Amino acid sequence: MAKVLIAYLSREGQTTKIAQRIAERLTQRGHGAELFDIEHGRSTLEPSRFDAVILAAPIYAAGYPRAALAFAKKHRDTLARVPCSFVSVGLAVMSRTHDGKAQTRAVVERFLKQSGLKPRRVELVAGALPYTRYNFFKRWVMRRIAQAEGGDVDTSRDHEYTDWAAVDAFATVFSQDLSPESQSAALSA
Ligand SMILES: Cc1cc2nc3c(=O)[nH]c(=O)nc-3n(C[C@H](O)[C@H](O)[C@H](O)COP(=O)(O)O)c2cc1C
Repeated sequence: MAKVLIAYLSREGQTTKIAQRIAERLTQRGHGAELFDIEHGRSTLEPSRFDAVILAAPIYAAGYPRAALAFAKKHRDTLARVPCSFVSVGLAVMSRTHDGKAQTRAVVERFLKQSGLKPRRVELVAGALPYTRYNFFKRWVMRRIAQAEGGDVDTSRDHEYTDWAAVDAFATVFSQDLSPESQSAALSA
């Protein structure tokens, strides 16, 4: 059984849900999963206590919130020593009008370069459009963007795009990577 840290950051709650789902799946597979809210958690967290780490963060304005970068930089050396994956949450990844996946990969690449983080896996996850949680201005801006992208424009309700089966599959693969056989294969590679 491995002790896995899931460090996440969320403004509107979707990355929290995704982090919780991954924790649930890892726990079902016999691992110990600890969730840590990067922005609001206790400041004494020590990632070196864990056997593996998942960092999950949402994209805002073509970048991740500063606290995600600060966390990745601060713990770069520790994260380099254990299996580490990065989960990127955003909406461009499911754009119908342009190659949002390529755009998202570019955002990820910039983050990895700036932070020095070298995750074994990067998972691109579609987030949500929680119109009812936005203030008037944000709702107006996000509706305009959604309209231009051929997305959902009904602002009377929230829209969730996360593919939960894909999130579960990510947790399964991450868990398999933690098996003693995978660990020794990684060490000898
Ligand atoms: C003001 C604003 C800017 C955003 N910018 C981007 C962006 O540049 N690229 C992207 O893929 N998603 C963008 N999104 C979508 C968010 O990443 C998405 O809603 C995600 O689910 C938010 O995660 P959270 O609920 O954990 O904060 C933006 C959302 C808002 C409200």
